[in-house]
This record gives sequence, structure tokens and C-alpha cells, in this order.
Amino acid sequence: MSSKILIIGACGQIGTELTTRLRELYGVENVIASDINTRNLDLVNSGPFEIIDAKNFNAVKDCCKNYNIDTVYLMAALLSATGEKYPMEAWDLNMNSLFHVLNLAKGGTIKKIFWPSSIAVFGPTTPTENTPQHTTCEPTTVYGITKQVGERWCEYYHEKYGVDVRSIRYPGIISHKAMPGGGTTDYAVEIYHKAVKEGSYECFLSEHTELPMMFMDDAIKATTELMQASTEKINIRSAYNLSAISFTPQQIFESIKKYIPEFTITYKPDFRQAIADSWPSSIDDSTARNDWGWQHDFDLDKMTQEMLENLQKQVCKVDFE
Ligand code: SER
Repeated sequence: MSSKILIIGACGQIGTELTTRLRELYGVENVIASDINTRNLDLVNSGPFEIIDAKNFNAVKDCCKNYNIDTVYLMAALLSATGEKYPMEAWDLNMNSLFHVLNLAKGGTIKKIFWPSSIAVFGPTTPTENTPQHTTCEPTTVYGITKQVGERWCEYYHEKYGVDVRSIRYPGIISHKAMPGGGTTDYAVEIYHKAVKEGSYECFLSEHTELPMMFMDDAIKATTELMQASTEKINIRSAYNLSAISFTPQQIFESIKKYIPEFTITYKPDFRQAIADSWPSSIDDSTARNDWGWQHDFDLDKMTQEMLENLQKQVCKVDFE
């Protein structure tokens, strides 16, 4: 019998591309996409889709039972910037959705969980360069607190109840399909869109703010490889550090200028600057590399090329239509 997968939060930035990849790997009918609404019609129409509020335990449970789901990817979350505006909502969604899937696994309804953590678990007291796997984590954002606490619960459910839960501390993810929403690293996606459409960008972080980042293809590869890895290779049940590239707004701007020389940038830091300042600039992910063979493919310029080519195609398509 083949594995049946449920993706919760499938219309989001990562969920959209994860759904496509999992359907390539396991077959369209074996991957059920779900979200709280139908905001991404391409995804909704691309295979089985259910409307599910991740906070509703019975809705998640019924869907798992109806489709004989054995594996859940829980991608629904409020991110760092939105979490600061709606702290209680972020706590409610990020924690309760995690408890629902952990408890479904504890009760035997499902067998395996992917739940993303984030570099937001780190805080101002964390070493900022080559941040180790095991280090001080005193996050200052609600989002970071939910991810840190979530990591502890994942490890607890694994130790106490044998739940097979796997996780990655994603850095900022850059992609050209679905837009991110409500994150501090979102500038690194917006900048490409503005470069292609308007030729200029006003950045909400200052020019020397260095953050860990990753191209979407690498993030999806890491996620599927972690989930496919044999159990004995998984030594971390909280969340793995994961790294690809680190850059500042100025460096991404210079990378774009190689292809769009007339592109201009201005800087107007807002409340997200304080969030970015509390996060590391680079991450030591040697544990992921040693345990399950993680390797990234995209550096800054390769990512820039891929982003600009794809966004230029989207602009041409809209102009043509
Ligand atoms: N991309 C996230 C954010 O900026 C970090 O995981 O909130």
C-alpha cells in the first residue's frame, strides 16, 4: 500500500511547491492538499484538496481518517512579522495545530509528521556566526517562542510516545511561485519582484543586515530527503539546523544588478529590523550534513538567475494575455 500524505497549509509559500514535488514523488491521488481557504486556485485544481482549519482537531482527524493518511506535513503558521501584530493568534495557530498532529500520531491515526521550525528559535544571546545546532535559544518574537516550544514538544513526543516527527530550522526561503506572507526575510523575495516589475526597491531592512537564506528548490529537497531518510539516521528530534547561503540586502542588490544594471535600491528599516537583528547571520548545519547527507545546490548568483528568469517569464505572460 502506498503512503497517503496530507499537507496542511498547502496554499502557502512552501506548501505550494511541496505539494507539487510530493505529487511527483508519490502520485497526485496520494497527496491531499489542504488549507483554510482556496486562495491558490492552481493548487486547488491540481489534485485532491480539502478546506481545513488547522486549529480544528476534528477537521484534521476526520480528513486523516477519510483518506487513510499516514504522513502529515504541517505547514500552516503565522510568521515572525504577523506574529508580532497578532501574538495570541500566532500562539493559537502555531501551537494547537502542532498538538493536533502530534496527538493523532500518539493515538496511532497517523505514522509520521513533518513540522517546520525556523531560525527564529534563536535570539540576541545566541552566537550570531555559524550558530551551532545546540546553543542558547532565547527568542524575542512570538513566532520564535512558538517554534522553540514546538521543538521541545516534538522531542518530547518522540521520546515518550515514539512519534516519528522530523523538523528543520528553515532559514528565509526565496521562491518565485507563491508569495511569502508576514515574514522578516520576505524582503529577499519582494526585491526580485520589484527589480523585474519596477526597477527599484525600498528595503525594510538596513543594507548590512546579514541573514541565513535558501532557494526554494533546496528547501524542498531538504524536506523530502529528511522525510525519506531511514530512522537510524535521524538523531535530532527537535529540529535540524539547515543552511545554504547568507547575504545582506546590499549583496542581493549587487547580485541582481549583474543582470539588471539600472536597478536601484533605498533603505527604510521598520519594526522588522529589530527582529532581523535578533537572528543569526549564518548557521552551522554540519549535523544535518553528517546525519542524512544534506547538501545545498544554489548559491546567491545561481538563485538570482533562476528568480529573474522565472519572474521575467511571468511578466511576459501577463503582458501577452
Ligand atoms: N521566514 C521566516 C520569517 O521571516 C523565518 O523562518 O518569519
